Amino acid sequence: MTALRSRANLSAQDRGASSTPPLAAKDTPPKSISKPTAYESDPDEGPSRLSLLDVLRVLGGLFLLSSSLSYFITGDSILWGYRPAITRPARIKAWLHGPYDLTDAQLLIYNGSDPSLPILVAVNGTIYDVSASPHFYGPGGSYSFFAGRDATRSFVTGCFDTDLNGDLRGVEEMFMPVEEEAGRELTREERRERKLKRERERRVARKKVDEAVRGWERLFDGGKDGKYFLVGKVDRGPGSGWEGWGDVKELCQKAREGRPRRTAEEVG
Ligand code: HEM
Repeated sequence: MTALRSRANLSAQDRGASSTPPLAAKDTPPKSISKPTAYESDPDEGPSRLSLLDVLRVLGGLFLLSSSLSYFITGDSILWGYRPAITRPARIKAWLHGPYDLTDAQLLIYNGSDPSLPILVAVNGTIYDVSASPHFYGPGGSYSFFAGRDATRSFVTGCFDTDLNGDLRGVEEMFMPVEEEAGRELTREERRERKLKRERERRVARKKVDEAVRGWERLFDGGKDGKYFLVGKVDRGPGSGWEGWGDVKELCQKAREGRPRRTAEEVG
């Protein structure tokens, strides 16, 4: 800006705009002044012209001001809480490592016991990096049993001792009413209606399981301000269906006890 100002003063003098022009200016014949074309820059144009450097300075100043304000207000962010992946070391590390496509057995290594490895959890066959919360998932953390495995079943049932696996078969029953026996023999039509009702209830219950699972997926895939993130898939080989998972497991006690009830009168 100082440069601009001195240029402005100079140009004013050159044009003879000063109230006391130098004497020598009177004696010398006036120079012919050619007007600059639209494409030529006129060094005498004065203070209205901004150089690129000036623009950069202004933008830099504004950024500095905004960053300081943001840090002052949020306490830990210079971008008003926005934390791009490039500023997160865990993301960069994971990106350099490449996708973690692991079998269930390989996944176990990432349970937080080796501090040089990230802490990973899996939900519904997708693996997420949760290293940002060792107090939850690291050794001694309140949810450390989730680390290094796909424990989707227990994410839904809440049974952290028996259900630390990814088998969702039959889990929907936790949302379906337990029916008491009807106090009398049901007619054929009533039995048919009851069966249809159960099928409807099962569909609704499966949706609830899906919603519960989606909720956890959302948390681990960028939720909570992006501190967790997706890193790979559980490799379960070709097919990856439920074959090979054995018999359908019984609903755990806690989930059984939480089921809604339907009395004999309601059934009959
Ligand atoms: C199906 C049952 C439950 C599951 C699967 C579950 C799972 C979790 C998980 C994974 C976290 C860590 C979230 C994160 O990484 O940010 C968490 C946090 C927490 N859970 Fe649970 N939880 C369950 C039930 C409960 C219950 C019944 C309570 C209370 C009695 C509870 C209290 C808490 C608290 C206080 C936190 C910390 C929240 C925070 O600081 O953001 N949870 N839970």
